[in-house]
Amino acid sequence: MQTPIISPSILSADFADLEKSFKMLNQSEADWIHLDVMDGNFVPNISFGMPVIKSLRKLTGKVFDAHLMIEQPERYIHNFKLVGVDILTVHYETQIHLNRTVDLIKKIGMKAGVALNPHTPVSLLKDIITELDLVLIMSVNPGYSGQKFIEHTYQKIVETKDLIEVTGSKAMIEVDGGVNNENAPKLFAAGADILVAASYIFNHDNPLKAIRNLKYF
Ligand code: DX5
Ligand code: ZN
Repeated sequence: MQTPIISPSILSADFADLEKSFKMLNQSEADWIHLDVMDGNFVPNISFGMPVIKSLRKLTGKVFDAHLMIEQPERYIHNFKLVGVDILTVHYETQIHLNRTVDLIKKIGMKAGVALNPHTPVSLLKDIITELDLVLIMSVNPGYSGQKFIEHTYQKIVETKDLIEVTGSKAMIEVDGGVNNENAPKLFAAGADILVAASYIFNHDNPLKAIRNLKYF
């Protein structure tokens, strides 16, 4: 049976006890761990950065999927590699030289992703899609967990899937924001390979079960 990759975002975890959350994640069927880095400029919120990721790296062997919601992310690519990030995703809206940034991420030895805000059209990726490992479709406006899912996302997933097929790209499609047990099956059917979720998992009475709900519907 084909199942989505589940990448829990720790943004809704208890920051005073991340070790406990990582014990849960290690026991869970989560495939990756989604790390939301925010700078208070590109998005209104500030979350955490390299020192925190470096400490968390000691707690798990799972893939670190970092989502940079920061301006000029190209300044920090080496640093994220050094603290153990495996997949580095930058926002399209922050980039003048996206091709150079993607090249650098891959040269340094990470997988490269590009994230699109809800209003940014998929067609803007036409000339770079074959170089990407991942496209992250934002299904809320980035900055906070616990927001309402934007329905237009399904359409964008289908458009991304089409672009990938037409160009022969190997990019995977990740969806982030407002993902829960109700929309997960529809997102997977539309073509999403990876589902990110924070509040659905960490606010659930049983986070292990919540992760299973997203993976096996
Ligand atoms: C939003 C972040 C998301 C967020 C998702 O800016 O990129 O990863 O943590 O949170 P939920 O799943 O609660 O919408
Ligand atoms: Zn995210």
